[in-house]
Amino acid sequence: MAIRNIIQVGDEILRKKSKTVKEFDEKLWQLLDDMRETMIKNDGCGLAAVQVGILRRAIVLDVNHMKIELINPEILETIGESIEREGCLSVKGESGFVKRPSEVTIKAYDRYGNEFILTCVDMLARAICHEVDHLDGILYIDKIEKNYKEKKDK
Ligand code: CO
Repeated sequence: MAIRNIIQVGDEILRKKSKTVKEFDEKLWQLLDDMRETMIKNDGCGLAAVQVGILRRAIVLDVNHMKIELINPEILETIGESIEREGCLSVKGESGFVKRPSEVTIKAYDRYGNEFILTCVDMLARAICHEVDHLDGILYIDKIEKNYKEKKDK
């Protein structure tokens, strides 16, 4: 495994649309392993391949100790909405409030090419939406709720 360089906002590649993964081979597994190591090293909870300069529809996530890999993910259904703070390893040192669905159902493939369907809520749903956006060249900073004020504790 190897730590890869995380591309920062301003680089045009982050705005490009990633391509469908067709080969579920050792090259893909190496990429996923490197992405996970890179994400952990940078204290992230999600990383899309484009963030290490590879325009393929591949994502790694580590949310609430759930390690997930999503290849060619497709959002099938979303329910509700929630506004929470989020950040991105490609926009270092910043964060902002973004509206996301509170529940999301996706179809994706694992690293061996097996299709699965997953329904998730809260943080994981948010992280998945954030990473799927990356595959389409969208960054969370495009979606920040500029006038949103954080709710105070009751
Ligand atoms: Co991000």
